[in-house]
Amino acid sequence: MVIVGAGPAGLLLSHLLALAEIESTVLECRSRDQIETTVRAGILEADTVRLLTETGASTRVLRDGARHDGIELRFNGEGHRVDFMGLTGHGVWLYPQHEVLKDLLSTRLEQGQDIRFGVTVTAVHDGDRPQVRATDTDGSELRLECDFVVGADGSHSAVRKAVTGSATSGHFREYPFAWFGILCEAPPSAAELIYSNSEHGFALISQRSPTVQRMYLQCDPELDPEAMSDDLVWEELQRRVAPHPLSTGPIFQRDVLRFRSFVASSLHRGHVALVGDAAHTVPPTGAKGMNLAVADVLVLARALRALLLDGNATAINRYEQDVLPRIWKAQHFSWWMTQMLHRTPDASEFDRLRQHGELSSVVESEAGRRYLAEAYTGWPRPTDEALAVV
Ligand code: PHB
Repeated sequence: MVIVGAGPAGLLLSHLLALAEIESTVLECRSRDQIETTVRAGILEADTVRLLTETGASTRVLRDGARHDGIELRFNGEGHRVDFMGLTGHGVWLYPQHEVLKDLLSTRLEQGQDIRFGVTVTAVHDGDRPQVRATDTDGSELRLECDFVVGADGSHSAVRKAVTGSATSGHFREYPFAWFGILCEAPPSAAELIYSNSEHGFALISQRSPTVQRMYLQCDPELDPEAMSDDLVWEELQRRVAPHPLSTGPIFQRDVLRFRSFVASSLHRGHVALVGDAAHTVPPTGAKGMNLAVADVLVLARALRALLLDGNATAINRYEQDVLPRIWKAQHFSWWMTQMLHRTPDASEFDRLRQHGELSSVVESEAGRRYLAEAYTGWPRPTDEALAVV
């Protein structure tokens, strides 16, 4: 097996395959340091945590992560709690994705996984023995032959073309805004995450640890993250969640996250398949990205076991059909949360008041809150069957 990409999807796949004694080589264009320090979203579904802990991929999440049993939706100056635990019997875990990556990387490397950093894939040729061509950090050519190739190489996937026929073929939606994200040294401003719809634009108050907060402001996609002074950032965040007081402190990291929805036109062809962001991208509202990647990986790992160990291609031929329903549910949920909470540049008073109507319908109805809670905490997945390998 060749797995392109050492993100959560690629590393988790290599881990599940190794448990079934299927060997893989992981190719990653970035350095280990780069992948471990890229700041990403921080919410894991309970099933994601169960999979990570029960397969021995990460147990640190139970020690260093924090369970959150609900979120607050704010609009019109008021907060409304959505009680995940009461509505679904599940919470979610706040544990940053780069910590998951660190755990997966050290587990895989300790177990002797072949991971090649700084290797850029240039072409994938499908066939009975597919071939992967790549260049090393020093520019030397690499050619690998294998039984199956998986593209777990993110939204700019180099593998996608071998599956869809083009690097961009699929279903897209762009958004006229982005998130300006900060990390700051200050204790959490609230026990749970706050998603706030305000007339000044969306804000999300999240956290990383008892001493570090992660916060986001809706912004123009072209915003230079260094352009706003710390004071201006705090002023803007505060007025978007008012009257809830924010705890403030030195800002030590700033970034801008682009928004996009995308599903590739196909996810499998011959001996090549796509998982995670290579197959689909969601906007970050609702934190579905990594959880969706993990759900793909479970289905794909099971299909590859049947194919490579038993010569049975039924499951791999059903892979796309099996994962697409969840992908489109997550696409819808991420889009829905995004459009309900953000302010588009051309929004009228009608649009603003209609959003309040929509938010009121959600928070005032148990069915509305339950719908949100089920999607946020994650729809049931075939975890037990897939875990049968352990
Ligand atoms: C985060 O903490 O980075 C985070 C949390 C929830 C989201 C997105 C990002 O919906």
